Amino acid sequence: RGKRAFIAGVADDNGYGWAIAKSLAAAGAEILVGTWVPALNIFENSLRRGKFDESRILPDGSLMEITKVYPLDAVYDNPADIPEDVKANKRYSGSSKWTVQEVAESVKQDFGSIDILVHSLANGPEVSKPLLETSRNGYLAAISASSYSFVSLLKHFVPIMNPGGASISLTYIASERIIPGYGGGMSSAKAALESDTLVLAFEAGRKHRIRVNTISAGPLRSRAAKAIGFIDMMIDYSLENAPLQKELTAEEVGNTAAFLASPLASAITGTVVYVDNGLNAMGVGV
Ligand code: NAI
Repeated sequence: RGKRAFIAGVADDNGYGWAIAKSLAAAGAEILVGTWVPALNIFENSLRRGKFDESRILPDGSLMEITKVYPLDAVYDNPADIPEDVKANKRYSGSSKWTVQEVAESVKQDFGSIDILVHSLANGPEVSKPLLETSRNGYLAAISASSYSFVSLLKHFVPIMNPGGASISLTYIASERIIPGYGGGMSSAKAALESDTLVLAFEAGRKHRIRVNTISAGPLRSRAAKAIGFIDMMIDYSLENAPLQKELTAEEVGNTAAFLASPLASAITGTVVYVDNGLNAMGVGV
């Protein structure tokens, strides 16, 4: 039987989540996605109206099928966590069962199990503020949406993941090197995500034979990256300074995720894999 993947953090066809879905689909996996609740309507309408059809084309000419789209907000673990104002918010009250625990339960009810879990989401409300000017709430919100969201997803999905399964998240070099402009505690959140990749690789590996890796991706002009405000500069910087002076495509990250999720990577766990044209290896810009 083909593998089944749940990809959290797909709301359009521009980001890494979409590209990972495509690479996994091209390798024969069945695709389920988790879409941020406020983005759900636009995403589903666009899918239905064929707006993504061109981007759905796989190497063999067929179109990627998304078997089911689940509403998800990964900052809430179960209904008791949802604040009143969110409950009352029109964009949220139109959907149901979108906390992490409920989504895992729904996937279990619908499909029984999954093999691959992908976390391709991040949010830092104060990302454009330097760390020195970041509020406690902004910092904690970045960690909640961008780091703990992975712990929570893995925690709730591990019981329905088949042994030998794999999970993958997306990180950024700002966790370990100074990248001015990646503020609001987002650099801290990526450092936590990378550290958790080690501990979770141990715990999920020992308990359920599940592998945990993270991809440190180079700059991509996604919706989230455009919101940060410095993405064009980072792309230009990479083009100028990386060992490989070419555009980085989302597909290259998608293909790495497909490799890491496959039996070809059966002994790889607890690692950070750089998919950045080698930029991380440079010590100075030249
Ligand atoms: P994207 O905008 O395609 O993906 C981010 C997704 O997160 C969006 O679909 C958004 O709706 C979703 N999201 C935000 N808060 C959420 C929540 N509370 N619950 C559920 N979903 C939520 O952008 P991109 O850039 O592809 O981001 C994917 C991952 O790649 C992120 O972890 C990001 O930090 C990472 N990354 C991106 C780089 C870039 O240059 N674009 C570079 C390195 C890493």
